Amino acid sequence: MDIVLFGKPGAGKGTQAPRIAAALRVPTVATGDVLRAAVRAGTPMGLAAKGYMDRGDLVPDDVILGIMKETLGAGEFAKGSLLDGVVRTTPQAEGMTRVLGELGRQVDAVLVFDVADEELVQRLSGRTVCEQCQTPYTGREPGAKCDNCGGTLIRRKDDEPDAVRNRLAVYRRQTAPVLAWYEQHGTRIATVDAVGSIDDVTRRALAALSAAGVGGIETGK
Ligand code: AP5
Repeated sequence: MDIVLFGKPGAGKGTQAPRIAAALRVPTVATGDVLRAAVRAGTPMGLAAKGYMDRGDLVPDDVILGIMKETLGAGEFAKGSLLDGVVRTTPQAEGMTRVLGELGRQVDAVLVFDVADEELVQRLSGRTVCEQCQTPYTGREPGAKCDNCGGTLIRRKDDEPDAVRNRLAVYRRQTAPVLAWYEQHGTRIATVDAVGSIDDVTRRALAALSAAGVGGIETGK
């Protein structure tokens, strides 16, 4: 089973991904995490991606599709994947259809996180992350220490106000049209109201997937 998590920046895809992945018993791929790790490691891909990411622009499609081809070919993804922020342009949707098709698979559903822009700006301006272990925090200032590893908290460059405005504009221009592409290609679309407590959003997300016909969800109850 391969499910795409889809939504504006800050909609909660990364927060919900491990919970939904556990319920579906598939591993997660988050292209944002893969790219940030490449930036930290200073690889050629990371160096090329950094400028796009800092401004809040999208990294070129061929980079994303290259990552996905390599990742999904690995054994741990044989039974499926939860694709967090992986498909953000129509060429990426077409490319992922090819990549999954070569593995005899397809996108089984798209889960859309529905949140208003004002809520997102508030969420992202309040986020810091540990520069060492990447644990995210809400409402802690840059420079504070991480509870997990003692590292220093920083604000992501793309969480600065100008970059957030650009990410939202990029979403409207390049990413939102991808939903119509999936609809036209008969992919199941499930939408979740992503405002509320994290537990409530998880419950609603699993219910939305189930209502869209995604089977085999383990709720732990
Ligand atoms: P990426 O890291 O994927 O950034 P994003 O999509 O903008 O995602 P975020 O991590 O900001 O938001 P999220 O929806 O995961 O929300 P989160 O759970 O973190 O990508 C970064 C960059 O990489 C892109 O801009 C681009 O340059 C590049 N890139 C990545 N994939 C690409 C692709 N396919 N094509 C091209 N380029 C690509 O939550 C956000 C905040 O809200 C957190 O502080 C969290 O604690 C809080 N929060 C979560 N849920 C709730 C809730 N229910 N109530 C209150 N607060 C909440």
